Amino acid sequence: MAKIKKIAVLTSGGDAPGMNAAVRAVVRAAQYHKIKVVGIEHGYEGMINGEFVDLTSIDVRNIIQRGGTFLRSARSMEFKTKEGRATAHQNLVEKKIDALIVIGGDGTFTGAGLFSQEYDIPCIGIPGTIDNDIFGTDFTIGFDTALNTVVEAIDKIKDTANSHDRMFFIEVMGRDAGFIALQAGIATGAEAILIPEVEGQEDKLKEFILTESHNKKSSHIILVAEGNKLGGAHEVAKKVAEDFPDLNVRVSVLGHIQRGGAPTAFDRFLASRLGVAAVDALLDNQRSIMVGYTNHEVVHVPFNKTIKGHRNVSKELLEVADILSI
Ligand code: F6P
Repeated sequence: MAKIKKIAVLTSGGDAPGMNAAVRAVVRAAQYHKIKVVGIEHGYEGMINGEFVDLTSIDVRNIIQRGGTFLRSARSMEFKTKEGRATAHQNLVEKKIDALIVIGGDGTFTGAGLFSQEYDIPCIGIPGTIDNDIFGTDFTIGFDTALNTVVEAIDKIKDTANSHDRMFFIEVMGRDAGFIALQAGIATGAEAILIPEVEGQEDKLKEFILTESHNKKSSHIILVAEGNKLGGAHEVAKKVAEDFPDLNVRVSVLGHIQRGGAPTAFDRFLASRLGVAAVDALLDNQRSIMVGYTNHEVVHVPFNKTIKGHRNVSKELLEVADILSI
């Protein structure tokens, strides 16, 4: 394989705290190995539109602690088309780019997988999404920060819930996955956690409201992942209020505050390790893989495996949440 002289890096999909730290690590690791780096703004959209910017070590100073992504992000419909990918490839050829590192989630890896097959260009993925729903890695960049943001917000809501003897339905992000809801629920002592992966939650919630232990508590926190099958927090709260008119119910939707803020120490560390690992993987002639983090070790997972695989919620965690909610 020809020696890699220049690589491009982009962030794509929903942003996640720690993406900047990952870009910084890619740029510095590449420079360390005398490889040039080009940043692509607005993800695959920018690759099609030619939004390229040269990056050196100095350009990524002072960003390790910043939330969001200074390269900006987008969800590109055009990159899903053959024509879009052809234009993107042409732009990479003109810029003499030999390989690509993409930071994002499932959709990002699907795009990179197709692209590297069609154009024989090595692509390495770094998992970056607050949802932590990527198969083949224990953690994605941004999850820990989002979790801490959610926990901090719920602690505050608990203060006012207690003062007014209220049942709060709190909606957190997770269109298809309940990892934020489950872990935040355990960390804040939520009374119930409703997530997309579990069926029959309405009955369970009703049963819980009728239990003795429920009646002993004056306030309650019910965590609802946005993709939950019964609907979001507003829908669930409405149904519960209809069935139990005596309950003093309120709803709080945490929304996009979950995606912002300075990354936690863990997310900075993870992003730094995976950024270096991504460059190492390219030097090792790897292609079409994600660098993940499992059992405290960097792992390589082929794109087709991580895209096809589904990360299941742990039964043990569900049980822990159940046991502790009495
Ligand atoms: O980043 C993933 C995610 O946070 C999902 O949990 C959520 O449904 C989605 O992004 C919302 O993103 P946007 O508002 O950018 O469409």
